[in-house]
Amino acid sequence: MPDAVTVAAAQTKSAWEQASQKHVREYDALLGEARHARLLLVEEELLASVLRQRPEVLHPQSGHGLDDVALVRAGARSVLGVDYSPTAVAAAQQRADEMGLPCRYIVAELPPLPMDDAGTDLVYTGKGALIWLPDLDAWATEVMRVLRPGGHLFIHEGHPLVPLWSWEENHVRIRPDRSYFARSHVNDTFPALGAVEYQWTLAQIVMATRRAGLDLLELIEHPEPFWKPADTVAEAWSGRLPNSFSLLARRP
Ligand SMILES: C[S@@+](CC[C@H](N)C(=O)[O-])C[C@H]1O[C@@H](n2cnc3c(N)ncnc32)[C@H](O)[C@@H]1O
Repeated sequence: MPDAVTVAAAQTKSAWEQASQKHVREYDALLGEARHARLLLVEEELLASVLRQRPEVLHPQSGHGLDDVALVRAGARSVLGVDYSPTAVAAAQQRADEMGLPCRYIVAELPPLPMDDAGTDLVYTGKGALIWLPDLDAWATEVMRVLRPGGHLFIHEGHPLVPLWSWEENHVRIRPDRSYFARSHVNDTFPALGAVEYQWTLAQIVMATRRAGLDLLELIEHPEPFWKPADTVAEAWSGRLPNSFSLLARRP
């Protein structure tokens, strides 16, 4: 009989495959967005010196892939996107081909990362990626393995406190059904459909990269979320609370 983690993983994978149909339904709109896609300002600033060296980039959990277009525009020599949704991968590849970009996409479930040892200069990830991984040490060990010596890991991710904030217009409540130290909860926003979201505290994320052998270069918490659901206004985003963070680390 499969254990709880295996059952949750299958449910989450199927939820993502279903949710990724959005990339096909909204293909033309995403193509329009891609023509102007930029990294966030904070990403451009933190990655400026790395991108000046024209890195080969690996993007685990690449999703819709708009960040890959932005990475190429900002200096990346190439991007390899990896996602376990065949629908997401096909849509991102179609767009990259149409735009003539050096982006390639493959379908794979991680970890492991589908790459040889020391195969890339920059692992770029986040914006809703780490919460789908039940074993952060296994992930960080793989990131370390595929980076060339001197290569970088960059994460721009939702802040681990975000599951606790209510999204109400005029005040913030700490949700009574959530705990910062919980192991997981069932996602009720996107992709929903019973997907199990893992909760990693900021300390757990940093320490997983340290245990894997990476050197921490930057860790910054931001009041802005990396994503806001359409038509939602929330006091939680007014600037008083952390909603995202950026981490830059390097393989010695
Ligand atoms: C929030 S989305 C995308 C994040 C991406 N940075 C973006 O902005 O589009 C998370 C993605 O992770 C993928 N995913 C989740 N768990 C995965 C796993 N274990 N292996 C590969 N892909 C995974 C999903 O299919 C989904 O496309």
